[in-house]
Amino acid sequence: MAITYEHIKTCKQSGARLGRVHTPHGIVETPAFMPVGTQATVKTMSPEELKEMDAHIVLSNTYHLFLRPGHDIVKAAGGLHRFMNWDRPILTDSGGFQVFSLSEMRKISEEGVQFRSHLNGDKLFISPEKSIEIQNALGADIIMAFDECPPYPADHSYAKQSLERTTRWAERCLKAHSQPEEQGLFAIVQGGMYEDLRKQSAAELTSMDFPGYAIGGLSVGEPKHLMFEVLDYTVPLLPFGKPRYLMGVGSPDALIEGAIRGIDMFDCVLPTRIARNGTVMTSSGRLVIRNAKFAEDFGPLDPECSCYTCRNYSRAYVRHLIKADETFGIRLTTYHNLHFLLELMRGVRQAIREDRLLDFRDEFFARYGIDEN
Ligand code: GUN
Ligand code: ZN
Repeated sequence: MAITYEHIKTCKQSGARLGRVHTPHGIVETPAFMPVGTQATVKTMSPEELKEMDAHIVLSNTYHLFLRPGHDIVKAAGGLHRFMNWDRPILTDSGGFQVFSLSEMRKISEEGVQFRSHLNGDKLFISPEKSIEIQNALGADIIMAFDECPPYPADHSYAKQSLERTTRWAERCLKAHSQPEEQGLFAIVQGGMYEDLRKQSAAELTSMDFPGYAIGGLSVGEPKHLMFEVLDYTVPLLPFGKPRYLMGVGSPDALIEGAIRGIDMFDCVLPTRIARNGTVMTSSGRLVIRNAKFAEDFGPLDPECSCYTCRNYSRAYVRHLIKADETFGIRLTTYHNLHFLLELMRGVRQAIREDRLLDFRDEFFARYGIDEN
């Protein structure tokens, strides 16, 4: 098995788990946040910087690397790890979600999804087998089944058809996967916001024995309380001895609430995306650093942060760089935001170790507040 889950302990407050995911490129301490490197790079960060902030794993995207530069080129480079000079674990998403959110003129059939490239309009096709072929060529430690993520809201009958197709596609992915000893293939539970459908999806997928399970179809525009409700009844349906991954979720409240419900892995573009428009997360909430009130603020982005940005630069300087469209500005905000979430997850793991994750949550939110999105 390429991927195994080592359970260390469950928090006495809540169902949060402290663990380790073992992969061919090393260990991921969980609960973990995975920075997103869509195009084989975490935007503006070098691998050395990611290691300095102690990222254990990064995520990349089948859809983007298939369109450009092409998985054959990545394979010729010696695989994604060599290509991007990252020797720690990598997870690739299957392309399912990105085809739906980025491409045009999608046509979904039982066979797969036909679409036009968002780059040049080329007519392309991804099937479960094609997604696995691409992900086998890229060579990530963890690869994802090709799924359909229904939009929100989706009615019951559409969500049911869609999850049943996702099950059939997962079966095809499992068959097509040529190197299960080198790469762990995770299945994705769908079913919209319906308890009976999440149950059906989890039952069908767990009967197939994947090395890990993801929960998809969340953070698609539904209110937060609904996402937490879905997690409340879905996480307990997943096998205890395997990693559980909540896809596309990375706001501080969702990371903590997800961990409380027993999620082990998360990914999200949020910290890197908001960094590029000059928004930073701090221990007392988000700051829009472009704001005029920071023009003469010579303190760090977050006085409690020990990151490279906060040790060396002021709010006034970062604000100036961002306003002047200097790339160094977004490097500094990106570094800080990623460090902030990785540090948050270190705090979550420590709180589980000390059986006090609910207290940790309350202390964190008393200061941070709750983000709208
Ligand atoms: N990223 C965020 N949500 C999803 C999902 O439902 N499926 C896939 N493949 N990726 C996601
Ligand atoms: Zn910082």
